[in-house]
This record gives sequence, C-alpha cells and structure tokens, in this order.
Amino acid sequence: MKIQYQLWLIFSCLFIVVCLAVYIVVSTTYEQRLQLGYEQVSITQGSTILDQFKDTYPYSPNRSIGYLQTYSKQLNSRLIMLDHDKKVYADSFQQLKPNTTLNLTILAQDTVPVSLFSETDPFGYLQYTLLPFQTVESEGYLLMIQEVDQLYAELKSFQKWIVQTLLIAVFVFFFISYFISTWFSKPIRQIIFHLKEVTPQKRFFSLKHPRRDEITDLINAIQNMVGELNLYDERQRRFLSTSSHELKTPLATMQLILENLPYVRENEATYQEFVQDLSFQVQKMKQMVDQLLQINRISDKYLEKETLIAGDLQHHLLQSFQHLAQDRQITLEFEFDPVQLYVNRAMFLRGLDNLVSNAIRYSPQDASVKIIIKSEEEQYKISVCDQGMGISPEDLPHIFEPFYRSNDATAWNQEGSGLGLTIVKQMVEMHNGRIEIDTEQNQGTCIHLLF
Ligand SMILES: Nc1ncnc2c1ncn2[C@@H]1O[C@H](COP(=O)(O)OP(=O)(O)OP(=O)(O)O)[C@@H](O)[C@H]1O
Ligand SMILES: [Mg+2]
Repeated sequence: MKIQYQLWLIFSCLFIVVCLAVYIVVSTTYEQRLQLGYEQVSITQGSTILDQFKDTYPYSPNRSIGYLQTYSKQLNSRLIMLDHDKKVYADSFQQLKPNTTLNLTILAQDTVPVSLFSETDPFGYLQYTLLPFQTVESEGYLLMIQEVDQLYAELKSFQKWIVQTLLIAVFVFFFISYFISTWFSKPIRQIIFHLKEVTPQKRFFSLKHPRRDEITDLINAIQNMVGELNLYDERQRRFLSTSSHELKTPLATMQLILENLPYVRENEATYQEFVQDLSFQVQKMKQMVDQLLQINRISDKYLEKETLIAGDLQHHLLQSFQHLAQDRQITLEFEFDPVQLYVNRAMFLRGLDNLVSNAIRYSPQDASVKIIIKSEEEQYKISVCDQGMGISPEDLPHIFEPFYRSNDATAWNQEGSGLGLTIVKQMVEMHNGRIEIDTEQNQGTCIHLLF
C-alpha cells in the first residue's frame, strides 16, 4: 500500500478513535448532569412532602395514605412510606400491603437522600428517590418512583446531535487528512520519479526539498551515492584505459623486437640482446598483469580474517627481502611490539610487501629500512620508514593512483608499474584503516598504516 494511503488510514483511524472517546465522555457527562438535576428536584419535592408527615407518622396510617395520594397525583409519581426497617408503611397506589419487604437496589444504599435511574419493562425509564425522615419519636423513609422518559428523550436527542456533529467532523477530516498525507508523501514520490530517471548513461540526481528534515538527508544521501557512483565509474573507466595503454607499451616494444629479430640473426651479440629485451618485456608484462589481477581480486573479495603474529610477519619479510636488501647493501631493522593482528593474511602481506619493496628500491646504498609495529591504545600502527629519495609535494596527492609513478622514480632507475601503492590503499580500505605519510625529499619517507 502506498505511504500516502497508509498515512491517510492511520490519520483517519486515529481521528475515529478520538471521536469515539469524545462521544463517550461528553455523553456520560451530559447524562450525569441531567440525572443530578432530576435528583435535586426530586429531593426538594420529597422534603416538602415529608414535612407533612411529622404529625401523622407513625400514629395515623390512613391520614398518611391520604397525603401520599394527594402528592402522588400532583407529582405524577408513586410515593411509598417506609418504616425504620425499610418495610412498607403506606403506598400511594395502595397495592403494597403494610410490612411488605421490597427488593430494590436503592433500599440497599448507605447514603441517603439518593436517586437511582433504571430502565424497566414495561414502565420505561424510572427514577427512584429515597429520602430519610426523622422525628423525635420515630424514623422512616420516603421512596419516590417517577417516570423519567423525558430525561432519556433529552439525552437521546443530545446523543443524536453529537453523533451527527462527529460524523460531519470525521467526513471533513477524511478530506483534510487525504490532502495532508498527499502533501506529506509528495517528496517520496518525487524521489522515486527522479530515481527512475537515473540510468547508466545519465547518472544525475537533483531534487529541491524546502524543509530541513529526514527527506533532505535522504536526498543528500542519494545525491552523494549517485556522485560516488559517477566517480567510481569514472575511476573504472580511467583505470581500464590506462591499463590497456600501459599494457600496449611493452606489447609494441615486443612486436618491434620480433619484427627485427630475423635481420639480426647473423649477429650473435645483437641477437642475444634482442632476446634478453624480449624476455624483460614479457617479465614486465607478467608482473603488471599479476598486479592488475590482484587489484581486481581485492575489490571483489569478502574478507576472511585470521590472526597474524609479529614473529610470523618478521619471518615473512626477511624471507622475501633479505636478498634484495643485501644486494643493495640496505639494512633491514625490525621494531615489533608483541601484537596479534586480525587481518586477511594474503592481502595484508601483499600490501606490506609493496611498502617494503618501495622503501628498499627508492633508497640509496648503505641506508637502512625500518619496519615498526606499535600497539597504541585501541589501534595498531604499522610504519615502514626509509632514508631514501622522499616524495615531492607535487607527487604526494597522486601516488595512490593506479600507474602513477613520479619522475624521480624513473630517474632513480627503478622499474615499476605504479600499481604497488594502489594495492596498499585498497588493502587498508578493506580493513577499515587509514594511511599517513611523513616524507621529506632526499631525507626519507615513513608510511604509516593505522588499523
Ligand atoms: N618509499 C618511497 N620513497 C619515495 N618515493 C616513493 C616511495 N614509495 C612510493 N614512492 C613514489 O610513489 C610512486 C608510486 O608507487 P607505487 O608503489 O604505486 O608504484 P611503483 O613503485 O612505481 O611501481 P610498482 O607497481 O612496481 O610498485 C612511485 O613511483 C614513487 O615515485
Ligand atoms: Mg611500488
């Protein structure tokens, strides 16, 4: 069901419940007020009658009956005198014999004077009023029974009026709540409409919402998401075109070498040189394809994490870089807190390898490369520090972009594809970490990974 109709239904149901409550409260209050008025009138009438009994009760039942009959006709009600036990003493209708015990609810009431109202068959609505009577010698009660159809006719007409008024109110509210819910849910319909317009070709979402509420937040979130998607798409496209371009370069070189190979067959030295170049280009391409596959695999991957202890890490790094470091006369130094890292092993090692490989390759001979793992409060900090060429401020914003290599790196005579730090960045993002860099040109670089 549409939100618009859901809101409409909720508003309407709530309003109907409120109307029912109003009806019940108003109608009972009105009924009680009417009854109170009738009760007061009856009590006043009853008190006037009782004044006449001071002389006759309990000595003269006949005179008492006479009085009762006169007043009964006047007031159009049945009057019954009761003795101190609430047994019949005299009845204006002369139907009840003296000393009859009556079984009426009102006779059980503790506080008098009091009136009770009830609907009886076949007399309709009746009002029973009980008044106490006391003289020096004796005491008794006067019971008045009156027809009060008028009271209930008045109540019914009031109830009818209030029902009609409330029905009109409900009807009007139905209309109003329809417009309110339509107005309220309008932005949602607009969002859906605009979202349907977003296609892979036209990724654009813009919507103006005048109020500052969750809808504005939702619109902003969608706009951000569409923006992110565009960025992601743009990055993918750039990555694809750069990758194919980068792969084409060694391929073109290989093609050139192959085309010229038959002509240098006679010259053994040149021939060997060509074959070596060819092998180098194949190697370069293989490495690049490996890295590309790695990047692709990382972004698809669901992270399966495991515990990696500092000792393991040192063992791995020594195994991988000992020879390269010795070759370049670089000292590897380790400063590890005894921590346990909870990471995806393969991905983490691949990232760290790239950092250490950079540190060794972009450092001069006899320098040292320090790998530090520190456990600080709630986080781990892994730093790879070298005393190498450093990164220039112009290069710094770009080094994590795929295939980006600084001119210094080329001048340093280091082969590479510019994908290493892209892999590092992806790894860190997948582990919800962040990267910080301290670098100074020709002094050294420290890359810190914080998890
Ligand atoms: N420790 C470092 N010292 C100085 N410059 C660095 C260092 N690490 C990275 N760089 C700079 O950042 C660039 C990008 O590094 P990245 O690791 O992504 O690519 P690469 O090392 O050139 O190639 P490869 O894909 O083989 O790693 C490098 O070309 C280099 O200019
Ligand atoms: Mg690298």
